[in-house]
Amino acid sequence: MSCKKLNLTLTAPVKKGGLVYLCSDSGNLPPLALTMDTVRPGLRVGDRLGGESGAFMVRSAVWLPEGAGASSRPLYQLEAMEDVAKGSGEFEVSRTGYALAWITLSDKGARGERVDESGPLVGKLVGEILELNTVQGFIIPDETAQLKGLLVDLALNQGFDLILTTGGTGVAPRDVSPEATLAVIEKRLPGYERAMTAASLAKTPHGAISRAVAGTLGNALIVNMPGSPKAVAECLEPLLPTFRHTLEKLQGDPSDCAALRNG
Ligand code: MTE
Repeated sequence: MSCKKLNLTLTAPVKKGGLVYLCSDSGNLPPLALTMDTVRPGLRVGDRLGGESGAFMVRSAVWLPEGAGASSRPLYQLEAMEDVAKGSGEFEVSRTGYALAWITLSDKGARGERVDESGPLVGKLVGEILELNTVQGFIIPDETAQLKGLLVDLALNQGFDLILTTGGTGVAPRDVSPEATLAVIEKRLPGYERAMTAASLAKTPHGAISRAVAGTLGNALIVNMPGSPKAVAECLEPLLPTFRHTLEKLQGDPSDCAALRNG
């Protein structure tokens, strides 16, 4: 939990659910904007900014380039968690729960020709075992460069904790999820991969066809899964009980695992 404080200025009141942009310089921002006294506050998706006039949650972050007299700086999109009054005040940054992103790899899905059930199922199943401050979904074509770029952005710029992909793990000509994931992860998790294969083979011999990869990038845990909702449920089953402890360890929990009752 962070205990950062930011001085923010809001140019107009915002209703609950409204979106505003937060930047260190309001020069080229839309009229409804928040400015802050810090150039690089290092906020992540899922951070809560609470003050006397109301509260916001960070929903996304992009990088504004150098120009127009200002140095390069992050631009955050915030959602008002309650009605927030206009004016200046101190906001405390806090964080509870985890930010989850699911990415469905599907050429047809990305063209809007197929309804994606697997991505929303990921959000539902993970939400039953982990407290989630954010669930965001992305449907993209089976393109290596696009998946690599999105994984890096979500993990390193936006600060998502958990990034689960569905689809593109097989041997069809356009299946590239494992290659794209291998290209960006820092620590591979072969145990996750074996657990998914074992659970899959217990249900269908076709489980052997998936080449799903798992690993870490920055503070994020990334896991590939096959594309069907049935496969998602089967592959997630052995992993769900491990997510919390994996994330705690990945994000620096120094506690001794020997003290854990179920190791
Ligand atoms: N794993 C589980 N648990 N259940 C399944 O139904 N389907 C398999 C396999 N893994 C399946 C599974 C099939 S049919 C294929 S082709 C591969 O995953 C790759 O699927 P993908 O290309 O959608 O990633």
